[in-house]
Amino acid sequence: MNHTTISISLFLLFASVSFSAHSSGLSAEAQAGETLFPACFVCHNPEMDPPLGPPMWSVQRVYQRNSIDAADFIQAMVSFVKAPSLDTAIHKEGVRQLGLMPALPLPDEMLAKIARYIYEEQFQPPCAHWEIALKQAAQKGDAEHAKKDQRMLDKYCQ
Ligand code: HEC
Repeated sequence: MNHTTISISLFLLFASVSFSAHSSGLSAEAQAGETLFPACFVCHNPEMDPPLGPPMWSVQRVYQRNSIDAADFIQAMVSFVKAPSLDTAIHKEGVRQLGLMPALPLPDEMLAKIARYIYEEQFQPPCAHWEIALKQAAQKGDAEHAKKDQRMLDKYCQ
């Protein structure tokens, strides 16, 4: 190999490494999870009125607060999604408002990819969801929840 060939190979190597990194910085595992995420988004869509699931922005925060690292986050999420139970549910507000999530018994490795995506993604604050929730709370005369949703809108959606 002459010098030109070596530098061209090195260039291609670096180009392919940087190309495989997602523009938003997702790992390959998370990118694979992103393609499977529609299975969750059918319910975890923050623009749904009425909602069928809590926004992933909130689910991610609750799981982040309750786990020590990525592996712990992913393991807890995979085992919940396969077999949701009131004992293991940590998104208490979601359970209160929407009832327990139905089991989605997908293969572990698929769920691990999805959970990796949910761990890494920087979800946009679910402003549409809070507006819908605020409207519903106002209709029900639920001043406490209306205040909470308004607080989230003020904090994240200015
Ligand atoms: C049929 C609608 C539906 C689908 C599909 C769905 N979810 Fe959910 N999910 C819910 C509801 C409702 C809740 C809120 C109640 C709860 O926490 O169990 C929830 C809550 C959660 C929670 C919080 C659980 C906790 O600790 O309380 C996680 C994590 C979650 N979903 C992950 C997923 C993932 C990952 C997928 C896709 C593989 C998915 N969901 C698909 C309806 C759904």
